[in-house]
Amino acid sequence: MKILVAGGAGYIGSHTVKALLGEGFDVVIFDDFSTGKRDFVTGGAVIEGDLMDAAAVRKAFRTHDIGAVLHFASLIQVEESFRDPQRYYRHNLGTAMNLLEAMFEAGVRRFIFSSSAAVYGIPQRQPITEDHPVNPYNPYGVTKSMVERILQDYDRAYGLRFVSLRYFNAAGADPDGILGEMHDPETHLIPNILLSLLGKKPVLGIFGTDFPTPDGTAVRDYIHVTDLAAAHVLALRSLLGDKPSEFINLGTNVGISVLEVIRAAERVTGKPVPYKILPRREGDVPVLLASREKAERVLGWTPRLSDIETILRTAWAWHRKSV
Ligand code: UFG
Repeated sequence: MKILVAGGAGYIGSHTVKALLGEGFDVVIFDDFSTGKRDFVTGGAVIEGDLMDAAAVRKAFRTHDIGAVLHFASLIQVEESFRDPQRYYRHNLGTAMNLLEAMFEAGVRRFIFSSSAAVYGIPQRQPITEDHPVNPYNPYGVTKSMVERILQDYDRAYGLRFVSLRYFNAAGADPDGILGEMHDPETHLIPNILLSLLGKKPVLGIFGTDFPTPDGTAVRDYIHVTDLAAAHVLALRSLLGDKPSEFINLGTNVGISVLEVIRAAERVTGKPVPYKILPRREGDVPVLLASREKAERVLGWTPRLSDIETILRTAWAWHRKSV
């Protein structure tokens, strides 16, 4: 039995493939390499294909004996999702629908979905537990919550068993140095800090210093991508053990402000970060903090590498070598 990893050559997908291979799973990566990288394929079979091509997706299930699917492939830029929502709805819903339909045709009923803290919208309380109302603010978050709704309906109607993992701020790089984070354009804080230190961006922009937080900059819950990958393996084991469907936050319940990340980056790299203060970015909330109680209770998951120094040290090692 093989595990199909859609988007397995992307940032979080590739780290999860490495974790799955390390635990002896047989992996098939399905990726169109539009944002995924060939260098990030560390093993397993590879199907180069487009998840919007329903026939190609069905063929993958006829070619391989698939037992479960992990779906990472997604458009992820919040700002772009405001500008071009049609692209987001078509792609993020269409890819999930194609995978689910091909799964059912092949009799596969186990699915792990890359969801996001964006489904909660503007948080009403912190830390955010999974029973917090789902009320996404941006179209990207709406696509994630719509897929979650589809999963619930398919569970009830067709016996689908899923784990929807709601990521907070994924960051860091594989400690072995092969895999890392690179997006084009890069919008995320930590890679942008490192790019500014490498001279690839003239200066880091800080989006807002007037938030109701201790230092005025936004507070986030950063989780090391290797810890995130480990949670996917645990979620897969839970589904293979016939456990019920779940929505689970993946974060650490530790909040770090933008300025604190910058100071930590200066400590880790020994270099001053060049920055300038800019207005707030549309849709950024002051604080996002995950309750990790459910991930610990249901999956037996604990973060091991998610302190900000380890995140920055691993990211810096990869960026210095690879960017
Ligand atoms: N930031 C800067 N400068 C930058 C980049 C980011 O100041 O160059 C700030 C942002 O304004 C924010 C914080 O750093 O306050 C973190 O920003 P990221 O872009 O790294 O992450 P976000 O919290 O905005 O985004 C994350 C996920 C998204 C998800 C979103 C909302 O990456 O996929 O949370 O849940 F949609």
